[in-house]
Amino acid sequence: MPSFAKRSYAPSNGSRSDAEIMFDDHCALDLSATEFRLFSDLLRDRCGLHFDEANRYLVEKRVARRIVECDVGSFASYLYQLRQGPHAEEEFSKLVDSLTTNETYFFRERAQIGALVSEIIPEMLSRQGARKRPVSIWSAGCSSGEEPFSIVMMALQANLAPGRDFRVYASDISRAVLSKARRGIYREASFRETEGFMRRHYFARRKASCVSPTRSSAMSISCT
Ligand SMILES: C[S@@+](CC[C@H](N)C(=O)[O-])C[C@H]1O[C@@H](n2cnc3c(N)ncnc32)[C@H](O)[C@@H]1O
Repeated sequence: MPSFAKRSYAPSNGSRSDAEIMFDDHCALDLSATEFRLFSDLLRDRCGLHFDEANRYLVEKRVARRIVECDVGSFASYLYQLRQGPHAEEEFSKLVDSLTTNETYFFRERAQIGALVSEIIPEMLSRQGARKRPVSIWSAGCSSGEEPFSIVMMALQANLAPGRDFRVYASDISRAVLSKARRGIYREASFRETEGFMRRHYFARRKASCVSPTRSSAMSISCT
């Protein structure tokens, strides 16, 4: 039976949730090498997420936070909940949400999207000859939707027509970010690389500091 040593973590730089504070103060746990392997195997087998030794501290900290939030007390009990608990699927999804890094903003990969819309899509369309079909673009790991919306905006700027020339599909392993993508409401941080004219043309202001895209019909979003 694995043993669970108590340990204190250094405070993180960002703001800490109640669960994190409670975790740091009272119930820090060490993840043994065997437990780390069990968690990393489970994550790899169930959803293809790969964590090696270099990520062990991250996995330990994020899993421990879920242990506090679920009030199950140990890594072994939590692993049992993930495998056979009454809410195993829902909990697995929450764990995945907590382990993924969802950093994104509009035009984060401007050069790649530029190449896609100005070279790759036109070339694929021209190769099709007379019987043209729209090129399907898959933003796999779309986070909260800034990447697929950026593709749509740049394609429209390049005079490509949604439905006729291209369609964008977007998916992500994290349900939390996908629901943000479906909502399509963005705050200032998402626009750090967006020119003013693009923002004015493609987005409408909703409430203070919230804007949403006005032309999203060329995009569909699904869970991976
Ligand atoms: C750093 S974000 C990048 C988002 C966007 N592609 C961009 O460049 O702005 C990576 C995203 O990939 C997702 N992700 C990681 N592994 C995945 C997998 N195996 N299947 C689907 N999505 C995955 C994460 O949940 C996260 O939202």
